[in-house]
Order: sequence, then structure tokens, then C-alpha cells
Amino acid sequence: MLLKCSKRCTLTRPNLQWRASSQPQPWCLAFLFHLIWCRVIHRRLADEDDELSEVQPDAVPPEVREWLASTFTRQLATAKRKSDEKPKFRSVAHAIRAGIFVDRIYRRVTSTALMQFPQDVVRVLKTLDEWSFDVFALHEASAGAPVKYLGYELLNRYGMIHKFKVPPTILENFLSRIEEGYCKFHNPYHNNLHAADVAQTVHYMLCQTGLMNWLSDLEIFATLVAAVVHDYEHTGTTNNFHVMSGSETALLYNDRAVLENHHISAAFRLMRDEECNILQNLSRDEFREFRTLVIDMVLATDMSFHFQQLKNMRSLLSLAEPTIDKSKATSLVLHCCDISHPAKRWDLHHRWTMSLLDEFFLQGDKERDLGLPFSPLCDRNNTLVAESQIGFIEFIVEPSMGVCADMLECILGPLHSSAKNSTSTAGSEPINEENAGSEPSNKFKIRKPWIACLSDNKKIWKEQAAKDAEARAKQDEEESADPQPVTEE
Ligand code: CMP
Ligand code: MG
Ligand code: ZN
Repeated sequence: MLLKCSKRCTLTRPNLQWRASSQPQPWCLAFLFHLIWCRVIHRRLADEDDELSEVQPDAVPPEVREWLASTFTRQLATAKRKSDEKPKFRSVAHAIRAGIFVDRIYRRVTSTALMQFPQDVVRVLKTLDEWSFDVFALHEASAGAPVKYLGYELLNRYGMIHKFKVPPTILENFLSRIEEGYCKFHNPYHNNLHAADVAQTVHYMLCQTGLMNWLSDLEIFATLVAAVVHDYEHTGTTNNFHVMSGSETALLYNDRAVLENHHISAAFRLMRDEECNILQNLSRDEFREFRTLVIDMVLATDMSFHFQQLKNMRSLLSLAEPTIDKSKATSLVLHCCDISHPAKRWDLHHRWTMSLLDEFFLQGDKERDLGLPFSPLCDRNNTLVAESQIGFIEFIVEPSMGVCADMLECILGPLHSSAKNSTSTAGSEPINEENAGSEPSNKFKIRKPWIACLSDNKKIWKEQAAKDAEARAKQDEEESADPQPVTEE
């Protein structure tokens, strides 16, 4: 009898034969395990396929669909080519702060031992709490060291230097070395500016929504550090490129979350250097918790988990009484901040997009030189830029921001109501209410500045896509009217 896995998968072992009369062989058991495993894997991939088909209108060009599938699920990239804790609020004071703290950040270290900030940097950092903060301006003001100043400012503002007794010079060393790591490969996009941008966006989420009040100091510390290191020593090439080119890093991490594993491992390795060890005064338990959180958060920035991550959070939120794990919540926030530039002001988003495409095209050049097929969006002569951005916004960024906002409202709602009760007895102002009128007034809503930006940016890309299509049609027409002469070899 020939045993075969019914799924057409790479795990299939078609040559295995089993004779009914013979004793069970170890490989028989192995094959049975294989069949069970296959069901699990195929079920999971089928889930992801469902997710993608939900967001696949006919309008999406096939190239864009292929890119979405291969980048944001685990389906095609290789196949193609052959705490249940209830929300706890640390104190009533915290709950009260949830609504009214907004630009009140506390516990700064005011000691003179702190790093000196150039005047221009201080000026730019005045807008640090804004959604469309201009990280490019910070880059200029800081002479190319945005991570150093922004990282330092954030860790100080949230009181982390004080709380975890981080020696200021050690923090300065650590941030400077992280900054250097981001500049190692001279990437157009995955560089120190991107790190600073993501850290600032995480800060917005922590501070402007009230999320910081749901988290412990250690969780805030881990979230900020995870944001700062999340693409540390990025090579400017994708996971798919590492796998397809058989890089050392792919070999080391067995083709799984290759870059993300490297970012985390290299950052923790750096922190083992005494001169950069910002964790030196954490207790053993604090260190373990910090490390687990950072690992979870950075691994969740691997885009191939995108649909699964969203789906899991959606189904959690659909429960009558969802209990959301801290690590799941901060992971989703970091993932959203990582892909948030299309949700920022057009000038910022446009600049990021051009940098990312530069990086993708450089990868395409490498792929051509190595004789590898082009990864999606990497062929500089055949990439539909505007269409891909519309696809990215509609199918990736908008749904992510939507789920993230629902999650934050679910987490922070109870905190908000207890704050409201406490503040109303204390006679304080009502807090952080937006969209009044469209929803029952007792439903807690966070501010969502990204909604308007996403809609503006999509509109601009759509106009651009129409123009591009017109130009292509014109070019095709010209080429068919004036065919190139065929030259004999
Ligand atoms: P990384 O920053 O490692 O994680 C998020 C990924 O999303 C990022 O790498 C890019 O690969 C991808 N990404 C971000 N912005 C865009 C965009 N505008 N278009 C396509 N892909 C994007
Ligand atoms: Mg990354
Ligand atoms: Zn990133």
C-alpha cells in the first residue's frame, strides 16, 4: 500500500510504503505525525488565504496581489519557486491619569549628568508628541544621530533612566552603537531614521492613547527598546532574499524570521558589552521579563505573521469579555507603528516610499546579478509603484490600524470609565473623547489622526495611478504604431 499525504506540500513522502503484514516501523509513526502536522499547517495557510481573499477586489493588479500574498503570509514566498491576564490598573491615580495626562509625562531625571542636547534638537523635539512628527528634521538637527537623541529623550521622559538606574553614559553608548548598526549597510530605508520614526510613533501610541497607563514600567521600557532595536543591522534586503541567496544569516536561523532573529540577537549581544549594558541594574526576574517581551515584540514585526496576527486579535476582540495579553498588545502596536508611514502626512509618506523603493530596487539589482528571480516590487523596470501603495494602504495598513484602535479602545475603556468616575467626583474635565455624536457618549474612543492621512494619501496615489496608466497606454500605442525593426543575429 502506498501512503501519500493528500496535500500537495513539500512535506510529502510519496515513496513511503507500508505493508499491512509488517511490524510498525519508526518511519510509519513519523509519517502519521507528518499527516497530522500537514493538516495543522494547511489549516493555518488556508486561514491566511481566507484573510487575503477577503481583501482582494478585482481592481488589484496581479503583481500587487502576488506581492501581498508572498510578503504578508507564509504562502507563496518559497512555494512559488519551488496572558490571559485581566486588565489590571496599578492604582486609581493611574486610571485617572489615563484621560488627563496627555502631555504630562513625569519622573524625568533632571540631574546635570544627563546628555547635552543641541539647541536645534531641543527645538525639533518640542513636536515629539505629534502624529506626523518630522523625523527628517530631527535627523538634520542632530547631525545624523536621531536615534541617540530621540531614544534618550523618550527613555528619560518615561522615567526609565531613573526607574531602572540606567547610567546616562551607558545609555548614550548603547544608543550610539545602535545608531551605527543601523548605518552599517547604508540602506536608503532601513536605517537610523526608520528606527527613530518607529520609536516616535510607538511613543505617540503610548502617550496619546493612554496605553502607558495599562503597562508596567518594565513593559514600557521593553516596548521603547524594542522599537529602537527592531531593525538593528538590517541588511537592506528582505527575508526572502536571505533565504533565496542562502545567506549566512538564513543558515543561522534556518530560514525563519531571519532578519528579525538577527535584530534581536545582535541587540542583546551588544547589551552584554558592559559599556552598553543598559540592563545592568535590572534584577534577574526583570531581565528575563524584559528579554521575553522584546523577543516577542520584534519577532512579531516579521511581515509573514501579519494576517495571522490581525486575525488572532480580531477573534479575541469579538469575545464578550476579551482579556488581552500585554505582549500581544504591545506586539501589535509595534507592528502597526512599523508600517505606519502611509498613515502619516503625505510629504513624509512620499519620502519614505521613495526610500523603500530605492532599497527594493537595489535588492532587485542584486537578484539580477545572482541570477535569482526578482522579488515583488524589486524590478526597477516593472514595478507599479502607485498601485502597490494603494494595495499596501487598503489591505495592510488600514486594517492594521483599525484592529489596533479597536484593541486600544477595548483595553483602555475600563480604565477610562474608572478615571471618569474618579475625575467626576473630583470635579475634573471630561477626557479624551472624540467623534462625539457618532457613538454613544459613554463609549471610549481614542484619537485617530491616521484616518485622514490614509484617505488623503490613497487619493493622491489613485490620481498618480491613473496618470501612470495613461502614460503606459500612450507608450504601448506608440510602440505598436512604430514597431522596432527585427535585427538578425
Ligand atoms: P520592516 O520595516 O522590516 O517591517 C515592515 C515592512 O513593511 C517593511 O520592512 C517593508 O518591507 C514593508 N513596508 C513598509 N512600508 C511599505 C510600503 N509603503 N510599501 C510596501 N512595503 C512596505
Ligand atoms: Mg523589520
Ligand atoms: Zn521596521
